[in-house]
Amino acid sequence: MEIAIVGSGVIGLMSALTLTDAGYKVTIIARDLPGDDSQDWASPWAGAAMFPHPDAKGQDLQTESFKYYWALAHRDPTSGVLKATEYYDDRDNDTSIWYKTLVPRYRRLKETELPAGSKLGFDFLTMTINPLRFLPWLKKELERRGVRFIRRTLETLDAARTIANCRIVVNASGLGALQLAGDEDVMPVRGQTMFVKTDIDFLKLMQGSHYTYVIPRMYSGGAIIGGVSQEGNFERKVDEGLRPDILRRVKGLLGEKGKELELGDVEKDIVAFRPSRKGGYRVEVEGDTVHAYGFGSLGYVYSFGAAEKVRELVRGLERQSRL
Ligand SMILES: Cc1cc2nc3c(=O)[nH]c(=O)nc-3n(C[C@H](O)[C@H](O)[C@H](O)COP(=O)(O)OP(=O)(O)OC[C@H]3O[C@@H](n4cnc5c(N)ncnc54)[C@H](O)[C@@H]3O)c2cc1C
Ligand SMILES: *[C@@H]1O[C@H](CO)[C@@H](O)[C@H](O)[C@H]1NC(C)=O
Ligand SMILES: *[C@@H]1O[C@H](CO)[C@@H](O)[C@H](O)[C@H]1NC(C)=O
Repeated sequence: MEIAIVGSGVIGLMSALTLTDAGYKVTIIARDLPGDDSQDWASPWAGAAMFPHPDAKGQDLQTESFKYYWALAHRDPTSGVLKATEYYDDRDNDTSIWYKTLVPRYRRLKETELPAGSKLGFDFLTMTINPLRFLPWLKKELERRGVRFIRRTLETLDAARTIANCRIVVNASGLGALQLAGDEDVMPVRGQTMFVKTDIDFLKLMQGSHYTYVIPRMYSGGAIIGGVSQEGNFERKVDEGLRPDILRRVKGLLGEKGKELELGDVEKDIVAFRPSRKGGYRVEVEGDTVHAYGFGSLGYVYSFGAAEKVRELVRGLERQSRL
């Protein structure tokens, strides 16, 4: 059976992976495709770190994704399994850290190990993904499975049905779900980060009153440092004032190891928009459409779990049509 997927970000691509696994024939139709570096889509600009989130919904989806990437990273040793440390300044115990029994080598830090201002800290093993490698790798893998990629800007989902000559469409259009009218809850959340030359080989994240992180990129000789979460800010240009602010916060996070880091090490500034949604992501059926968008700052963290759910929903639609 033929399925069309609108969107070629990590959600559309991973959905194509689970659907082809289940024997479906898939056509992906998208304005932006792996290899493109426009600001019109989110996936190339993620860190990307597998940091599950204590307060975000869909623990089942996050858990399935973590397991998938963990297996992938161990099948291919060139993908990154790294030690990660998280700090929080908005909670002082780890009762909300549901993933402490999921991630390998979880260890709560002692108070003396915490940076100034932080109330909770722990480390564990997790993975990073370099989207600039991973997305083209996924595309190639899908092409090998016979998936067709068509570059097109769509006005409606029915246009996708016509192009792919099929009934069931997966709507993985990220912020497209807003642009294409309709879901008023979809909103961009601006991020600004910097790619710096550094040999730092561990992940660090601080959450609570600010959002600061270092995400090493395997084999790139550097790391992504950030960041911000700015709702309703549509500015595509780099905010120069944020650069020293991000660096200062990152230095605070890194302590001794951050001492050498300077703005002169910055090779690239990144401004991109997380496809967020009030109420969180949406993975559900509406008519002959399976919606899969609104993953905000956690698209990679959700991706495989979301794609498995998409496959179940497509199966349900197929069964209905047989009755
Ligand atoms: C700075 C930054 C850091 C991030 N860090 C992380 C991280 O560490 N971990 C993590 O899990 N996530 C992270 N994210 C979030 C992650 O990048 C997103 O959640 C994820 O990429 C969303 O994927 P998506 O497939 O839903 O959307 P997108 O990647 O935006 O893809 C949307 C697709 O739909 C297509 N499309 C849209 N409208 C139309 C149309 N009208 N016609 C045809 N095609 C259309 C686009 O061309 C594109 O192919 C980060 C995001 C940013 C900005
Ligand atoms: C843990 O922290 C939360 C919020 O900070 C608090 O409500 C809760 O009582 C704490 N639990 C324990 C066991 O200390
Ligand atoms: C995706 O879903 C949203 C919300 O229902 C809708 O507005 C939008 O038109 C859909 N995407 C496409 C490509 O039609």
